[in-house]
Parts: sequence; C-alpha cells; structure tokens
Amino acid sequence: MNKISKTAPIGVFDSGLGGLTVVAALDALLPHEDIIYLGDTARVPYGDKSPETVGRFGLENALALLERDVKMIVVACNTVSATALPFIQSELEARGFRVPILGVVDAGIEAIIPRNPRKICVLGTRATIASGAYERGIRAKLPDTETISIPCPILAPIVEDGLANHPIATSAIKHYLTPILDSPPDTLLLGCTHYPLLIDAIRTVLPPSITIVDSSIAIAEKIRETLEKLDLAKIIDTSSGRREFLSTDSPRLFAERAKVFLDGKLSPMKVEEAPCR
Ligand code: DGL
Repeated sequence: MNKISKTAPIGVFDSGLGGLTVVAALDALLPHEDIIYLGDTARVPYGDKSPETVGRFGLENALALLERDVKMIVVACNTVSATALPFIQSELEARGFRVPILGVVDAGIEAIIPRNPRKICVLGTRATIASGAYERGIRAKLPDTETISIPCPILAPIVEDGLANHPIATSAIKHYLTPILDSPPDTLLLGCTHYPLLIDAIRTVLPPSITIVDSSIAIAEKIRETLEKLDLAKIIDTSSGRREFLSTDSPRLFAERAKVFLDGKLSPMKVEEAPCR
C-alpha cells in the first residue's frame, strides 16, 4: 500500500449539509489543511433508516472520498458513527485501506469527560439514539453519570431546510425537551451534526446554567490531535487550504442551501456532482 501523504486532503462526509458544521470548525482550527466534503444529499436523511442501509451508504461515501486520495476519513454524521463505524472500518481494511477513520460519537464523549457531568442529556436522530452508542460510551467512561437520551427526528430536517432560526425550530425543541425541564441535566450533548445550528433556539428553552457540548468542535480537536500523532499534519503555512465540495444530488441546490445554512461561511462554494455509487 502507498504511504499516506501529509499533503493529501482530509475527507469528511455526512448524509447532507449538517457535516458542514464540522468543516466550519476545521476551517477555523486548521485553515491550511485541504478538505474534501461529501454530502449525500440524494439520500438524506439517514436518521430513520436501518443500520444496514446506513452502513452501506456510509461505506460508499468513504470509498468515494478514498478515490480522491484523502489521508483521513471523518464521519461527520452521528447516525453513521453510532450505527456503522466498525462495519465501515472493517470493510475498508478488507479492501487494503489503512487511512484513519474518526467518528463524531467518540469525539463528543471524550469532550465531556473532563467536565465530569452528573447528568447528561443526549439529543440525536432516531437511529443514533436507538443504537445506544452514546449511552454505552458514556457508561464506560463515566459510570456514575446519569444519561437520558431523546430522539428528535424532526430537528435535522428543520435545519436542512434553513429553518434553524424560525419559531418552528423553537417549538419543536420545546416539544422534545419538555420531559427534562422539571429536573434538567447539567450537560446537553448535541448528538447530531445539524444541532449546533440550533444552539440559540435551545438556549431559549433550557436554563442558562446547562453546558451545551457541540460535537463538531470536539471532532475538529480530535482530528488535529490524530494528524499530529500519526505524523500526517500538513506543514503550517500562510496559504489557506483547498475546500472542495461534492454532492450526490444537485450541486446548485447544495451551494444555495449551504449559504443559508452556514450564514455565508465557507462561501463562495464550488460544488461538484458525485453520483451515489
Ligand atoms: N447527519 C445526521 C446525523 O448527524 C442527521 C441527518 C440525517 O438524519 O441524515 O445524525
């Protein structure tokens, strides 16, 4: 197998636009690294699909990025990370790929450990919560911490549709969070790449004392650490890295919606079509 090149891009994928929150966090932390982002907009949402289907889609996305010689795969989708990461890892290994693969679930859990929370509430898609991946991971690292998990199936589509700041978002959040309002947790873990865009709306519903942990920032830190540990970090220079965007559905729609979604960050954006395999 060829040696992995330090100058190769970091490959990031998500079911749709949500993983752009990870690209925005990476852009801020590692501006000189090249990044290729694949959004599977033709097949979003993944959150209501079976683990088998999510695994197949995730593997196809990873292979599409590896065709572009990425040095690392970042699974910026909680649903894929929670339900199918070991499957994708073993399938890639069986095909002879040795690139590191990082998922958002482990990064989010690692970020909360130093805070030593007593009670955590995890929000995610139906498939993420049903997988139990967050609860298992938290129990393994923080056995005395109480965890409550709430599936919020409508929130990702609200964000994908550019409605994160619309009253419809606040009303959906109130609906999902009502069960924890009487006895709130000290930490809220956003277990979906779309939810960082809802932080303002979430804050209007929850007491201000609650710490909100955003896994997009946690994974960006983890990517930096891993690149350094594996000696895969690009030499820091003053030029900004290349940003390439691939969409399995219309590139024009991707670019239009990404602009609204990220409030103009990462634009202008050139998007190329990468049909589903
Ligand atoms: N990207 C997915 C996640 O982070 C949410 C959207 C979907 O359901 O595909 O779980």
